[in-house]
Amino acid sequence: MHELMSAGPPLDADQYVLDNDAVRGLIETARSAIATATSPEAACDAIRPHFARLLADEEWLPKAYQQDAPQSGMGGGIGQWLLFRSADRSLSLFSLVVPPGAQTPVHDHLAWGLVGLYRGSQDEDVFVRDGDRFNLVESRALEAGDFYVLIPPRDDIHRVRTTSPFTSVSLHLLTNDTGCIWRHKFEPESGEVSPFRSGYVNVECEEDADAG
Ligand SMILES: [Fe+2]
Repeated sequence: MHELMSAGPPLDADQYVLDNDAVRGLIETARSAIATATSPEAACDAIRPHFARLLADEEWLPKAYQQDAPQSGMGGGIGQWLLFRSADRSLSLFSLVVPPGAQTPVHDHLAWGLVGLYRGSQDEDVFVRDGDRFNLVESRALEAGDFYVLIPPRDDIHRVRTTSPFTSVSLHLLTNDTGCIWRHKFEPESGEVSPFRSGYVNVECEEDADAG
């Protein structure tokens, strides 16, 4: 079995794959909120205004991090572009690209944080696990600028599908190294649960010692 949550050993240093004022500023805000807030909800509230400003700013995210990812293991051209992760892997920022008509598997994140739509539109289906069953509890349409918090176990399981005629780009600020941890994907109809590691398009994850 894969050890869930383990993304690999600590990195030598924080990794600013995209090193600009926008990314550094958001990470600074997030770290100070995490250090002082009394709960994940309070931390998300504190980060929210800064996150909303980045979602509304079309200048800071280069097009390279908004491109489809045809080679990605997620299929359908869906991929995660890593922008930042902390040395201890407790915080990451990435863009998720989903081409028109493509849909992610139903998946979890195993971490709290904020997700917002930067470009395009998506439908999101939220599921709650009830024993072997996965109940669809909410479907919502998201437009650029919309965002939501993920706080497990509430709202941790979902899938998204792009509804715009061009690739949607969402920003994820989550409190783990989301692309490299082993998490889960689900088949809601059969109740099947499988290990899932999404990876990043632009950064390798360490080989898992137990993989194979
Ligand atoms: Fe997700």
